[in-house]
Amino acid sequence: MEIKEAIKNRHSVRQYRDIPLEDSLVTRLKETIEECNQESGLKIQLVLDDPECFDAFLAHTMKFQNVRNYLVIAGEKGMPDLEEKGGYFGQRIVLEAQRMGLNTCWVGGTYKKGKCKAVLSPDEKILCVIAVGYGANEGKKHRSKPLDKVCGVKKEEMPAWFRDGMKSALMAPTALNQQKFFVTLKEDRAVIRAGKGPMAKIDLGIVRYNFEAASGHECSRP
Ligand SMILES: Cc1cc2nc3c(=O)[nH]c(=O)nc-3n(C[C@H](O)[C@H](O)[C@H](O)COP(=O)(O)O)c2cc1C
Repeated sequence: MEIKEAIKNRHSVRQYRDIPLEDSLVTRLKETIEECNQESGLKIQLVLDDPECFDAFLAHTMKFQNVRNYLVIAGEKGMPDLEEKGGYFGQRIVLEAQRMGLNTCWVGGTYKKGKCKAVLSPDEKILCVIAVGYGANEGKKHRSKPLDKVCGVKKEEMPAWFRDGMKSALMAPTALNQQKFFVTLKEDRAVIRAGKGPMAKIDLGIVRYNFEAASGHECSRP
């Protein structure tokens, strides 16, 4: 599956089939996690077969069902740009999972933090978790803000690569679907700024990964 197709097909899935992940997929997921941790210095982990983390009132309210496997996005507390990195590398794993035929959901609030089975040292912290498994459905397309609310470049003035990047940025998952980011073009490079809002910096990393993966162009720092 092409990366742009994976971005388009990915939606949050909160209900899963109650079957364990195939060994070959677990191996591939772990390899991707290892690559991401090596590159970023993050401490992303995969927890398998733990029904407790999503056995929470808020998780039931959001209709999570049969979540037994999840990624834990974690890293050292003092790491520069920890949140943005967590979003960026977490989304890389999410899209890899999508390409393997798995489904996912980013979760920052509606899980039981105290029951999360991640193994952490005292100087590390959890940013959020990501449910992963065989979806009972494929989720559905989220509502999106109009282009001019998230981008300073007119559609007719966008280079083709920038248009591809923007299209995928608007398909990115964001906390509460807030889409609080703004993309501009500066000296032939895209620049993405985070707005204010809960988890806006994690969102920034997620949006930047989608933009770069779809456009093939690295973004500049603001
Ligand atoms: C950082 C982050 C945190 C999130 N936290 C939760 C959460 O606690 N509970 C939940 O049900 N969904 C959560 N979501 C999922 C969003 O609600 C979802 O991504 C958004 O509505 C867009 O829908 P989509 O993922 O289907 O494109 C979170 C998403 C992100 C990116």
